[in-house]
Amino acid sequence: MEINNRTFLVTGGGSGLGGATTQALVERGAHVVVADRAGTAPVGAVFVDTDVTDTDAVAHAVDVAAQQPGPLSGVVNCAGISVAEKVLGKSGPHPLEVFLKVLEVNLAGTFNVIRLAAAAMRGAEPGPSGERGVIVNTASAAAFDGQMGQAAYAASKGGVVAMTLPLARELARYGIRVTTIAPGLFLTPMMGVLPVAARESLGQQVPFPARLGDPSEFAALAVHIIENQMINGEVIRLDGALRMTAR
Ligand SMILES: NC(=O)c1ccc[n+]([C@@H]2O[C@H](COP(=O)([O-])OP(=O)(O)OC[C@H]3O[C@@H](n4cnc5c(N)ncnc54)[C@H](O)[C@@H]3O)[C@@H](O)[C@H]2O)c1
Repeated sequence: MEINNRTFLVTGGGSGLGGATTQALVERGAHVVVADRAGTAPVGAVFVDTDVTDTDAVAHAVDVAAQQPGPLSGVVNCAGISVAEKVLGKSGPHPLEVFLKVLEVNLAGTFNVIRLAAAAMRGAEPGPSGERGVIVNTASAAAFDGQMGQAAYAASKGGVVAMTLPLARELARYGIRVTTIAPGLFLTPMMGVLPVAARESLGQQVPFPARLGDPSEFAALAVHIIENQMINGEVIRLDGALRMTAR
């Protein structure tokens, strides 16, 4: 798919991986609508205050995207939250509300955006190959080797991994591809809360390159997935060969 002059909806595009992806798409001539809870969109993108778990808000963001000059041709789902909480913590069992909240934002929120954006993209004029759209989700290495304290986060990202293929199979008839990137450790505000020494130590756990990923490297893969029509129904780890240890 050619990116220039098409419209893309980027959730969580006000920060980190979504922010870098928004910037990369804008640089390639796309119209980008950022759906995020807080903050602002990178220069050149339109910001719509959106909670991905709120159906009306997502429907509005999709409408705004559909009104941009180019056809709505893709979604990059980057909105997400991270919690670290043991099942049996110092102050008692893992609160169920916390578990449900993480599933609601990371898994149900991703699905909410996919279903509403797919409904809009289905009505678009297809390209010469029959392609109408592409969806890029964000899971995590934690979907495969989640650490202690990541039960909720790993479950939510495992759900994103698991729904990738059934979604791709179903939406294929409309010419809409569905893919997922599973990042390892990237230097974003989500990671930035850690002390520098902790970040460096995390980076050293990556076989090669032994550092945290740069958000532009995630954006580069998102751009490639959009451009490469054969990538469909697949989850791609982007992690420098990192396999996380138990803790
Ligand atoms: N940074 C990493 O190392 C890493 C690793 C693996 C996976 N991920 C995943 O990548 C995605 C992006 O993370 P990031 O590192 O850029 O973090 P980030 O905190 O910089 O960005 C996340 C964005 O999502 C937005 N958001 C959160 N809840 C939302 C909601 N309910 N509705 C709309 N927007 C919401 C936030 O406002 C923020 O702008 C997340 O899904 C995260 O789980 C990150």
